[in-house]
Amino acid sequence: MAFETEKITTNNKSEFYHLLAKQADGLLSVETNPIANAANLSSLMYHAMEQVNWLGFYFENNDELVLGPFQGQVACTRIEIGKGVCGTAFAQGQTQVVKDVHQFPGHIFCDMASASEIVVPLFNGEKIIGVLDIDSPVLNRFDEDDRKGCEKLAQIYMDSIKI
Ligand code: SME
Repeated sequence: MAFETEKITTNNKSEFYHLLAKQADGLLSVETNPIANAANLSSLMYHAMEQVNWLGFYFENNDELVLGPFQGQVACTRIEIGKGVCGTAFAQGQTQVVKDVHQFPGHIFCDMASASEIVVPLFNGEKIIGVLDIDSPVLNRFDEDDRKGCEKLAQIYMDSIKI
């Protein structure tokens, strides 16, 4: 079965995320496997979003973050909780929007092309199980609309896997 995704062309960011959330809902609602849905969501988002060079998941495992499904160049497989942008988002339970990764203390470089980044924690109720990480080669790529839109997409993912 082929899943048809229509290219989203709007320049309005909240409309963009509204349409992307609808596509994600459709794509993820037919499956509950966490790996399968993380893989498909990373592909959907990566191909829909402009100026993104890496997009994927890290899941908590034995007190570390371990690389999950992603799109982009090969990446570091393990991140200490509290380290880097991903480990910070996980430890604080808060989305990190980093305008310039060179200015973020302890930022971990996987792809040297990355200039800005957003990392969204994945909540199962109160418990965090991992993060969704998105890198851009452009400085200041992510703003408040991206934060809201990506948090919504992370929620759609978490609702789909029914854990
Ligand atoms: N930059 C991240 C590491 C993961 S890569 O960007 C894929 C960080 O500082 O946590």
